Amino acid sequence: MSNVAELKVDGKSYELPIIEGSEKERAIDISKLRAQSGLITIDPGFKNTGSTTSSITFLDGEQGILRYRGYSIEDLAEKSSFLEVAYLLIYGVLPKKDEFDTFKRDITTHTLVHEDIKKILDGFPSNSHPMGTLSSLVCSLTAFYPESLDPNRSWEATNMSIIRILAKMPTFAAWAYKNEVGHPVNYPDNSLDYCSNFLKMMFALPAEQYDVDPVVADALDKLLILHADHEQNCSASTVRIVGSSKASLYASVSAGINALWGPLHGGANQAVIEMLENIKADGGDVKKYIDKAKDKDDSFRLMGFGHRVYKNFDPRARIIKKAADDVLSKLGVQDPVLDIAKGLEEAALNDDYFVERKLYPNVDFYSGIIYRAMGIPTEMFTVMFALGRLPGWIAQWKEMRENNEPIGRPRQIYVGSNQRTYPSIDER
Ligand code: SDX
Repeated sequence: MSNVAELKVDGKSYELPIIEGSEKERAIDISKLRAQSGLITIDPGFKNTGSTTSSITFLDGEQGILRYRGYSIEDLAEKSSFLEVAYLLIYGVLPKKDEFDTFKRDITTHTLVHEDIKKILDGFPSNSHPMGTLSSLVCSLTAFYPESLDPNRSWEATNMSIIRILAKMPTFAAWAYKNEVGHPVNYPDNSLDYCSNFLKMMFALPAEQYDVDPVVADALDKLLILHADHEQNCSASTVRIVGSSKASLYASVSAGINALWGPLHGGANQAVIEMLENIKADGGDVKKYIDKAKDKDDSFRLMGFGHRVYKNFDPRARIIKKAADDVLSKLGVQDPVLDIAKGLEEAALNDDYFVERKLYPNVDFYSGIIYRAMGIPTEMFTVMFALGRLPGWIAQWKEMRENNEPIGRPRQIYVGSNQRTYPSIDER
């Protein structure tokens, strides 16, 4: 196959190099296109445009393949743990036992946050959406650790920032929830593992004994693995472009949290449950909502369906769907919206509209059902997504910095007014 593309414009011919990745993906390198031809390309939503080369995550949307650093998501979800996957994504290799023990110990000893952070938390009224609280608390780390502001200070300083945000994110997430419901916060319990510590901070109430259910902790660990990275998605691209200006890791992750919040991205898991609840309240007529999703004049979308990259089953959705059955049966939970979800999936997968557009359930379609069975409230679902995606954001930011990538600054094609003279106010 050729390693050069030829572009012909206005009778002129330009040669552009074609690069090939380790999985035989090919791209036309247009980095010199404007210098050669005066032309740029345009691609709203970057549906056909790569922003970088990366060694972190590989997706094959047609085959429904997802691998972190070459390891399949199926293997990792079955055999690994969230913190081990975090180490893999961030440092590029699976840790040896002593490395992993050190990593876990470092994280455990940094779970506490500065007491002054409670003053920031107090500024958020009850009922504040926890995603807004979370992004603010993460950004506040720049104030408590000013040395983190310089991403080029030293590898030791950067790695300390990585450990701190991994360690404090569960605390922030649980505190954002407690603030929203008006309950007192819980401090970390360093005798517990990562997920159990989070669950206890989330659900323990004063003067009540709280024992973490291992079924719930195990399910959460698997869900966090499944959300840990997804190459250049909207929020990871946000983290990279904010970091490309040499903004700190904390500022970049805070931006990523806000990008994830949108209902077309990480906010979809909350939107799925709200959609399923609405369908249930409306009598559970699956066909009515499939027809609404197909109707161009109807703004309704089948949330949790479709994906920019996957044109086959999202492998994470397949794992989560099975886990949903397992967790609900182990917890003895009957959730009628699970049956509605399965009915929607079956109807959509047999409907030409969805088949032609290759719309399959994505990671968000079933995850909310497990979170709900675990007792996690709907408005916390996207916070759970952020908790899982954090190692991916860190890995993407770190790779962009290590590759010394240029500041992200896309061009545009101007379609506004041509030059015109300034009219006095009486002439307008
Ligand atoms: C995540 O990028 C990632 O990797 C994201 C993520 C990650 O891990 O980071 O995987 C997490 O964000 C998953 C996606 C969660 N969002 C949703 O579930 C929201 C519902 N889905 C969509 O809105 C949509 O499918 C997107 C946003 C996910 C993808 O949109 P695209 O790639 O821009 O596709 P599109 O909107 O141009 O749709 C193509 C066609 C259109 O119809 P036509 O104009 O061709 O007639 O498919 C239709 C769309 O109307 N379509 C849907 C639909 N999704 C797409 N129709 C009904 N219901 C849907 N859910």
